[in-house]
Amino acid sequence: MHLAIIGYGRMGKEIADVATERGHTFTTVDVNAPDAEHARITQESVGACGVCIDFTHPQSVVGNIEQMAALGKHMVIGTTGWYGELDHVRSVVEEHDVGLLWSPNFSIGVNLFFRLVTAAAAIFDNVADYDVMGYEIHHNGKADSPSGTAIKMAQQIVDAMSSKDTPVYEMLNRRPEPNELHFASLRGGSNPGRHTVLFDSPFDTIELTHQNRTRRGLAVGAVLAAEYMRERKGFHSIDDLIDSMVGE
Ligand SMILES: NC(=O)c1ccc[n+]([C@@H]2O[C@H](COP(=O)([O-])OP(=O)(O)OC[C@H]3O[C@@H](n4cnc5c(N)ncnc54)[C@H](OP(=O)(O)O)[C@@H]3O)[C@@H](O)[C@H]2O)c1
Repeated sequence: MHLAIIGYGRMGKEIADVATERGHTFTTVDVNAPDAEHARITQESVGACGVCIDFTHPQSVVGNIEQMAALGKHMVIGTTGWYGELDHVRSVVEEHDVGLLWSPNFSIGVNLFFRLVTAAAAIFDNVADYDVMGYEIHHNGKADSPSGTAIKMAQQIVDAMSSKDTPVYEMLNRRPEPNELHFASLRGGSNPGRHTVLFDSPFDTIELTHQNRTRRGLAVGAVLAAEYMRERKGFHSIDDLIDSMVGE
C-alpha cells in the first residue's frame, strides 16, 4: 500500500522504516522538516495514498484530520493531546464517510497491558487493604502531560474499581481523597515511555509496569493499524485492532 506519513519527526521516521520493512511505499508531509517531500496536506501530496498516518502535534492534528477527511482519506491518528475534540472528530469522519483509527499508544504490548491492568483493578477492588496509584515517565521532548496512555489507563482503573471515581494528575500537596486515583507524570531524559500501576497494602506492593524499549514497537502498531484501516470506514480505536489480534 502507499501510505502518507504526516509529521516526519521522531515517530514519522520510525514509521517510514517499518513501512519499508513491511513492503509499503510512502509519501512524507511535514510543515518544517527539510527532508519531508511535502509541507502541506493536499490532493497532490496525499491523493495517491491509501491511508494517512498522523504523528504531528496536538495543536495541528484536528485541522489535519479535517483536511484528510475532506480529501476522502482513511487515517491512523497517533498524535496525542486532542481528546477533548473526540466528538467533533467522530462527526467529521461520519460526515465524510471515511475511516479513522486512533490510539494514545500504538504499542501492541501496552494495549495488552491495558487489559492486564483492568483485570487486576477488578480483582483488587474486592480487597479492602489495597489502594491503587500510578505514574508515567517520558523523554524531555514530549509536548503533552499527562500522556494520553496514562489518561486512558487511569480511566480504565476507575471504571473497574468501585472505590475510585476521580483520576488526579496534578501534583498533590495534600492527602488524596479515598475516591481519588493519583497518576503522576515525570519528564526528562530520553525514555520512550514507561507506565506503572501500583496496588499497595500495609503489607506489600504489587507493581505492574510497561516499559517501551524503543519507538519501533509504536511504529509497528501504527503500520499494522494502517493495514487494518485500508478497507474500513468509521470511527475505530485500537481496541478494535487488538480484538482482531486476540480473537475477541
Ligand atoms: N500514539 C502513539 O503511540 C504515540 C507514540 C509516540 C508519540 N506520539 C505522539 O505523536 C506526536 C508526535 O510525536 P513525535 O515524537 O514524532 O514528535 P516530533 O518529533 O516533534 O514530530 C512531529 C513532527 O510533525 C510536524 N508537524 C507539526 N504540525 C504539522 C502539520 N500540521 N502537518 C505536518 N507536520 C506537522 C512537526 O513540525 P514542528 O517541529 O515544526 O512542529 C514535527 O516535525 C505527539 O503528539 C506524541 O505525543 C504518539
